[in-house]
Amino acid sequence: MADRSDHWNAVFGARADTGLSWFEAEPALSLGLIAAHAAPGDPVLDAGGGTARLVDALLDRGLGPVSVLDVSSAALAAARARLGPRADAVRWIEADLTRWVPDATFAVWHDRAVFHFLTDPAERAAYVAAMDAALRPGGTAILMTFAEDGPESCSGLPVARWSSDALAAEIGRLAPGRFRRIGSRRHMHVTPAGRSQSFQATLLRKRP
Ligand SMILES: C[S@@+](CC[C@H](N)C(=O)[O-])C[C@H]1O[C@@H](n2cnc3c(N)ncnc32)[C@H](O)[C@@H]1O
Repeated sequence: MADRSDHWNAVFGARADTGLSWFEAEPALSLGLIAAHAAPGDPVLDAGGGTARLVDALLDRGLGPVSVLDVSSAALAAARARLGPRADAVRWIEADLTRWVPDATFAVWHDRAVFHFLTDPAERAAYVAAMDAALRPGGTAILMTFAEDGPESCSGLPVARWSSDALAAEIGRLAPGRFRRIGSRRHMHVTPAGRSQSFQATLLRKRP
């Protein structure tokens, strides 16, 4: 949707990503969770990856092949520029997750701070359909969102906050019998401005 890409292109074009509230210099939790569920050679998708340093960390660890998908061409261009020649090892996909038809499958789907922007149930249904189509049977989805006690908005947009229980129930409603929750974590993100934001991570296994 043009509105969505326009919004995020403006966000990423307005300031250095190191000042954005979701910036993480070292994505330790994401990296640890992915490393626990992907062996080298397993394809990993950072869904709504923006300019996150996760792709750098995955390449450093020898994980992937890595794909980064985002609705913002500006974010993808910035991430590519940062990586320099290493960007050639990454597949960059400009797409809206609520409209994306995957042409490949992945062992791990990672989403940090994207699903919670989907306040419309129809968009959540489209997202989960894309996630289902993109994950291999037995693959792992890692969904990190603002928790039930997290912020009510981000980047000027409203969000839907989720406990892990509520998120697992929503995925079960949208894709009955397709995913089984295999774990959850709580996480406190500290923004560059020093504010704490409560996150949850839910891990789901796609049933064979
Ligand atoms: C809060 S940022 C998080 C970025 C990254 N995951 C991180 O942790 O740094 C949200 C990201 O999701 C992207 N995004 C939002 N809605 C999207 C959608 N429907 N499809 C694809 N990307 C989307 C934005 O462009 C932005 O890069």
